[in-house]
Order: sequence, then structure tokens, then C-alpha cells
Amino acid sequence: MFRPILVFDSGVGGLSVLSEIRSLLPGRDYIYLFDNARLPYGELADQVLISGCVDLIVRLSQQLDAALVVVACNTASTLVLPELRRQLDIPVVGVVPAIKPAAALSKAKEIGLLATPGTIKRDYTHGLIREFAPDTRVHLFGSSELVMLAERKMAGIPIPQADMARILTPVKQTGLDVLVLGCTHFPMLKAEMRAVLGDEVSLLDSGKAIARRVKSLLPDIAAEATTMGTLCGFYTTVLLDTGLADTLSTLGFSELNRFPPKH
Ligand code: DGL
Repeated sequence: MFRPILVFDSGVGGLSVLSEIRSLLPGRDYIYLFDNARLPYGELADQVLISGCVDLIVRLSQQLDAALVVVACNTASTLVLPELRRQLDIPVVGVVPAIKPAAALSKAKEIGLLATPGTIKRDYTHGLIREFAPDTRVHLFGSSELVMLAERKMAGIPIPQADMARILTPVKQTGLDVLVLGCTHFPMLKAEMRAVLGDEVSLLDSGKAIARRVKSLLPDIAAEATTMGTLCGFYTTVLLDTGLADTLSTLGFSELNRFPPKH
């Protein structure tokens, strides 16, 4: 395995980011780490979130000799990046909610941020809004329920559209024209969101911007990789349900192990 890119999230959300990165850098090897033991992150206290994430990511990236780490989780990125960058000597890329492009795109000058309760309350997020959307009204919506609905969908379990309607009706009622998907789980629910919000609301996520950032930090090694084959493997902090394990194997991932290994 060539030095892999380590992509990290609490659950399936980071897969939406990983697929954007793979489409720009198809020749790379990727390892995905799910901290599914502690999902959903939006409900965790700051210190619990920071210490758990930093410990897991530092240990696995050193074990793998990773080339770069992507914290494909907005909730973790609001807190853990400074400490990770202090402890690792490889590039660490985080996810920032797409407030800036959303404010630029909005004609109504009224946008929404749909994210986890943790992301919604963090100073980091409020700083982004002050800096990048000073003349725009920003409506904040926090939901861990949507995170768990995205997990269900990826496990092959149907998700009730009535739940989507209940969660998103307050969003629709505001009259905003751009909604930032500030949680990496949410792009997986775009079709279900569209069914409630219609086509008048633009849905913006950060996946493509993260992929461009990763590409700018790493050379494309497609040529070497075609002779080596590319690898997509995953580690989990607790065993995955079979539904999700099946989905991942259909997507071409091989299950590597529990992390940290159980002795
Ligand atoms: N996917 C994550 C995010 O972008 C976290 C979801 C969660 O665990 O609550 O915020």
C-alpha cells in the first residue's frame, strides 16, 4: 500500500467527502475510520470529542504512515484541528460549512445552516458567519436525527419521508434560498430533502472544496497506482451492523479491523 489518505468521521458522513476526493485523485489508496462507537458527535461534550478524536486519528495515521488526514466531519473540525496539527507532521484537512459561497449565492440574502447541534453552537461557526456572511440573515438548524437517518439509509433501511418533512418544514417556512449542508452526513439525504424543500432552495456542501484542497496538497499518483492497484479499506471503533457492512462492500471497501484492536 502506498502511503494512504486517512479519512475520518463518526459514521457514514465522510463517505460523501471521500467520493469527491476519489474522483479527483483516483490513483490514491484510502483508509476510512468510523468512530461509530461514539456516534452522534453532535451530542458530545467538547473535551470528550477532542480527546477521543485526536487519540484515534494520531494513532491510526502513525500506524498507517498516512500521507494526509481528512477530518471529514464538521462537528469534529470545529474543535480538533489545532491539536491534531500540533501532534502530526502531515497535512490535516478539515471541513468548513460552506457559509461563504452560500452568502455569495443567496439572492434573498437569507440562508440556512443545517448541521449538528454541536456545530450550530460552536464559536467557530459563529465566527465564520460573522466573517463571511455579515450582510446575510443566517438561520441555524441543528439535528442529530438527520445524522441517524443518513446512517439508516446507508444501511439499506428505508427512511420515513414523514420524518424528513417534520424536520425540514421549519427550514422551508423561513423563505431562505440557500441551505448549507454543514454536516457531511447530509448530502446523502439530498433527494429526500429536495422532496420537502423543492428546487427553489439550493443545497450547498463542502465536499468538492475539500477534494480540491486535498489535491492541492498531494501529487496525483495515478500512474504509479495503476500498477499497484488502489485500496479502500475501513476501520471501525465498534462492529458495523450487517446492513452497512454490506453497503460498504458493494461500494468496494474491504473491512480491515476494529481500531484500536481488541486484545
Ligand atoms: N458527519 C459529522 C459532521 O459533519 C458528524 C455527525 C455526528 O456524528 O453527529 O458533523
